[in-house]
Amino acid sequence: MATLEDGVPPDQTVGPGGELLENPRRRDYLTYAAVSVAAVGAGVVVLPLVNSMNPSADVLAQSSTEIDLSAIEPGQAIKTSFRKQPLFVRNLTPAEIAEADKVPVSSLRDPQTLEQRTKEGKTNWLITLGVCTHLGCVPLGAGEGENRGPFGGYFCPCHGSAYDTAGRIRQGPAPTNLQVPEYEFTSDTVVVVG
Ligand code: FES
Repeated sequence: MATLEDGVPPDQTVGPGGELLENPRRRDYLTYAAVSVAAVGAGVVVLPLVNSMNPSADVLAQSSTEIDLSAIEPGQAIKTSFRKQPLFVRNLTPAEIAEADKVPVSSLRDPQTLEQRTKEGKTNWLITLGVCTHLGCVPLGAGEGENRGPFGGYFCPCHGSAYDTAGRIRQGPAPTNLQVPEYEFTSDTVVVVG
């Protein structure tokens, strides 16, 4: 059956007296549509801008970290970061160096001497990633008063891997020693990692 609404344009409606009025629902729809288009347009502009602010993989790979060692006393360690990963820097005492040196290398799961893991003449400076080689937890031992585990180095609380004073795996499920990153001394007290 034909009604008064038949033949009325979609942007208009019929008033109580049969007069044609602006359709408010149609007007709202048009308003929402305009806002949505504006929002999508803004997204298209913003996304490339945000992406351009992220460093590329190449830039990240080349980034290096400079560390001032002068405030780290023998027996102390610090936690810092390198390429978004935790980095441990430790100033070993003569007793900790002796402890590492007396271990028969052939008995180790990942055989390496402390000398191979440090720079010549600087065997007191042990610089490793603070990332357990089992499943990537951050081991304890670099922070003041933290549990250094049964071998006096680092202890991973996740599954009990214990590293010695040279950062070598001695007990637990971790397959390899804590990783030593590329680094060099640029002076007696400054190291550049990366
Ligand atoms: S992640 Fe360290 S022992 Fe499992």
